[in-house]
Amino acid sequence: MRRPLVAGNWKMNKTVEQATLLVANMVPGLQAVKTVDRVICPPFTSLMTLSGMLAGTEIGLGAQNLHWEASGAFTGEVSPEMVKEFCQYVIIGHSERRAYFGETDQSVNLKVKASLAIGLTPIVCVGETLEENETRRTEAVVSRQVKLGFEGISKEDVEKTIVAYEPVWAIGTGRAASAEMANDIIGNSVRKNLASLFGSDQAEKIRILYGGSVKGENAAEFFAKSDIDGGLIGGASLKAEDFIKIVEAAA
Ligand code: 13P
Repeated sequence: MRRPLVAGNWKMNKTVEQATLLVANMVPGLQAVKTVDRVICPPFTSLMTLSGMLAGTEIGLGAQNLHWEASGAFTGEVSPEMVKEFCQYVIIGHSERRAYFGETDQSVNLKVKASLAIGLTPIVCVGETLEENETRRTEAVVSRQVKLGFEGISKEDVEKTIVAYEPVWAIGTGRAASAEMANDIIGNSVRKNLASLFGSDQAEKIRILYGGSVKGENAAEFFAKSDIDGGLIGGASLKAEDFIKIVEAAA
């Protein structure tokens, strides 16, 4: 049995002051749902403050990116050790980073390895664009992202990772994939590829999330599916009530 996990990806939203308020409003509701792993991923600037606020709760904290090098002349970047000071999780290879900041399957792979090496749990994002979907390349694209993203990871380490399937056309559009379609891609592309790389026992242990226009109203439908182990939530994670509702749907 895989324990459900729901993570809120705040993207580039909330100052420290706003983040503090939002988390204060969320904590009681999130704390009540013991059977789900709950994670908040705010911008870097709020990590220190929120790690203090969340100390003593069971709510995890994640960053939205890191650099794979340990230190050095990489202006604007944040190292794995710096993230590890405050976080347990880190989102890797989100489609917005792939689309706007030049992330590739190779940089994703370096970041996954760096996260695991320092003891962070990577949430590795995969998913096809609208054009790839419409030209029936979903399976090929997702398989490539999984194979290259996880290249060279050991069998022991892979079970510490989390994958998020987020079709790009469903992100922030209000047009979620159908639960059937998401479950099919997750089972027959993502998990199947993980099984061919690491064996089916390992693949069965890895939690795979769906992301893309998940709301309080449609969350339960996704989480009821056999291969969907939780969600990576964007817009709806910025409102305490909505995010709590989604976490409750995963319980
Ligand atoms: P939305 O929930 O806003 O569609 O965003 C999904 C996402 O990109 C989470 O990483």
